[in-house]
Amino acid sequence: MSELVLTSKDGEIGIITVNNPPVNALSPGVPEGIAAGVEEFGKDPSVKAIVLIGGGRTFIAGADIKEFGKMTSGERKRGPGFLEILDRIEMSSKPVVAAIHGTAFGGGLETAMACHYRVAVPAAQVGQPEVKLGIIPGAAGTQRLPRLAGVAIGVKMCADGDPIGAAEALKDGIIDQVVQGDLLQGAIAFAKGKIGTAPRRTRDLNGKLGSEQANAPIFAAARDAARKKARNVLAPQAAIDAVEAATKLPYEEGVKREQELFLNCLFDNQSKALIHVFFGEREVAKIPDVPKDIQMIPVNKVGVIGAGTMGGGIAMVFANAGIPVLLKETEQAALDRGIATIQKNYANSVKRGRFTQEFMDQRMKLIHPQLTYDGFADLDMIVEAVFEGMELKKKVFGDLDKIAKPGAILASNTSTLNVDEIASATTRPHMVIGTHFFSPANVMRLLELVRGKASSKEVIATCMALSKKLGKVGVLVGNCRGFVGNRMFGPYRREAQFLVEEGATVEAVDKALYDYGMAMGPLATGDLAGLDVGWRIRKEFKDAEDKSVRQPLLEDRLCEMGRFGQKTGAGWYKYDENRRPLHDPEVDKVIEQVRKEAGIQPRHIGAEEIVDRVIYALVNEGARILEQGFALRSVDIDIIYLNGYGYPAYRGGPMWYADTVGLDKVYARVSEFHKQHGALWEPAPLLARLAKEGKKFSDFTSSAFSATAKGSNA
Ligand code: 3HC
Ligand code: NAI
Repeated sequence: MSELVLTSKDGEIGIITVNNPPVNALSPGVPEGIAAGVEEFGKDPSVKAIVLIGGGRTFIAGADIKEFGKMTSGERKRGPGFLEILDRIEMSSKPVVAAIHGTAFGGGLETAMACHYRVAVPAAQVGQPEVKLGIIPGAAGTQRLPRLAGVAIGVKMCADGDPIGAAEALKDGIIDQVVQGDLLQGAIAFAKGKIGTAPRRTRDLNGKLGSEQANAPIFAAARDAARKKARNVLAPQAAIDAVEAATKLPYEEGVKREQELFLNCLFDNQSKALIHVFFGEREVAKIPDVPKDIQMIPVNKVGVIGAGTMGGGIAMVFANAGIPVLLKETEQAALDRGIATIQKNYANSVKRGRFTQEFMDQRMKLIHPQLTYDGFADLDMIVEAVFEGMELKKKVFGDLDKIAKPGAILASNTSTLNVDEIASATTRPHMVIGTHFFSPANVMRLLELVRGKASSKEVIATCMALSKKLGKVGVLVGNCRGFVGNRMFGPYRREAQFLVEEGATVEAVDKALYDYGMAMGPLATGDLAGLDVGWRIRKEFKDAEDKSVRQPLLEDRLCEMGRFGQKTGAGWYKYDENRRPLHDPEVDKVIEQVRKEAGIQPRHIGAEEIVDRVIYALVNEGARILEQGFALRSVDIDIIYLNGYGYPAYRGGPMWYADTVGLDKVYARVSEFHKQHGALWEPAPLLARLAKEGKKFSDFTSSAFSATAKGSNA
């Protein structure tokens, strides 16, 4: 018996314990060990029933995801078949009971369903999250789950990938008992009750599979929902096909169909990208020069300064995590407005059933509105979210330096300003960091943590850990203008405008990017965020502009007409009362005028060119950021784009996408654009180098990463 799986006995009950920390993934040796345990107890006359349990913090969190990459690259042959191993467990003549705590996910739930019975602690969760990795259950999950839970629940769980808790799983028939108290003892007691009974095999339970007529609308609705929720993604549709097969084919044939669909998904680029995202979200938390065991700063009480758009949202983020917040403003009217917005946001969530009135009341009680710094001396962390202006920020940090206790983290939500200069207003720059939340702060998952040149490792580690507690993905970035996300967004939106100047329609540009998978087209995104923000900045820096470099012309014109986007009812589009974008002939006139003035002869531009221009502008800037050391790894950039900018996860992020296309091809296209469109398209040296060496962005780790990386946020 391998060390990965341990066996023991408690009277007539054989106990199999999976021992593969941290999450008992089904790495090579684990499924084999479980089956061997079942067979060993099968032969042992003193054992009358078997309990399968997970050691440590969880049951089995699924197949070992690292193995998928080895399978698709050919490094590992497809195994002896996890499926056959589960069959061996199910065929046991002695009852096998799965005892679940933590998570029974993916192959973990499939293992549990191959057992004859399942019991779980109240906090346990079960689910088939494979679609989130771009695959489908590959060990009969789509065949066994509807047999236990019925077709509607089976298809929902396999196509959405969201887990359910023990109480719901009991109601749905996925588990047989919720165990209060000690799980192993509860499972042993349950197993004793089954001694001498014929094992109940899930594959034989056909009672919940429904009729073709009853099932047809369930599958149609599921396909429709998946098309909307996971646009362009293969796996949810494949999962639905597989569950449908369970209702139409005998068990063995349904399993074969599931295998075909599973392998189609596994070998597709989408699953490779989504698996990259799974590990990427965990990788970004690892900062090479910050030791894992570094002392964290306890963050139990925080302050937020400014109750505007961002400050209010940030206060909600802390309150949602149960952390009390002092929310400071300068004027009563602004404070009242801020609190009213918070209240309205919470009330909307209650109305939509996202949480209860009681939850809202508790959260509101955690937010203390005030006009003074009373109580700030006690706070562990203070986040500044006042207007964007260096003088004001320095004034606020100067005040905080006098008020805050020595160990308090001082954070700025600035979206553009130099964090080092802000920190220079204090006598403790090592306690200062940028915490760049995205709007709406209570919704968007991304949190760019901006490392100043003095930010201490303790502060960085604490903010990384805090991100997770706040339900965010924290990504550490360097202190350059626009940091990582907004710095790349500039060229992305610039190219979208150039394409319109050159002949594409507004709708064609947005549609090409939407079809590529972006949540919204770049021009519609501009309308949503407000075109005036960039316009004001451009006006301010007009004199500093390099006149030899092509500047986009159209947005300034639109702003001069008062077309600031959705907030004024018109921008690139005009908007109806439901904020639906409509084509606006007024914009056509402006475009025509601008083309005439600039001497541009409009030409037809196809979707492929639109996508290449806009996405490669992102990639080329990303390559510069990486080489200059403002991002640690290409995956950090990917995670930023996926969580802050509506980039489609199934493409893995802009840098992963470029790797998938092949950097030689990307470089060739960027060079072509350079010839056609000039200096703005100069290929990033890193792109050129990696392309030449036949390498990928994912092969590159920045050795330069630090707050003082080349370039600056001047
Ligand atoms: N395979 C390999 N590694 C895994 C893993 C898995 N299934 N699940 C988690 N890990 C790793 C993580 O990468 C992380 O590694 P690190 O410490 O080196 O970064 C470590 O285990 C701990 O994971 P988390 O940081 O995510 O721990 P949490 O406690 O926050 O979450 C969890 C635990 C809820 C289990 C979460 O890890 C998770 O959702 N895991 C994935 C579950 C999943 O998708 N299962 C299905 C796999 S596909 C499958 O089973 C196919 C089958 O049908 C054949
Ligand atoms: P906002 O204008 O909505 O809110 C700023 C608030 O700060 C106002 O309510 C103002 O009364 C208050 N304020 C000003 N001086 C103050 C002081 N000395 N003490 C206390 N309160 C004070 O601005 P918004 O959009 O919330 O931006 C705040 C910061 O967040 C800026 O640095 C901005 O660049 C950044 N940011 C904004 C994003 C956005 O989409 N709006 C996204 C990410 C960052």
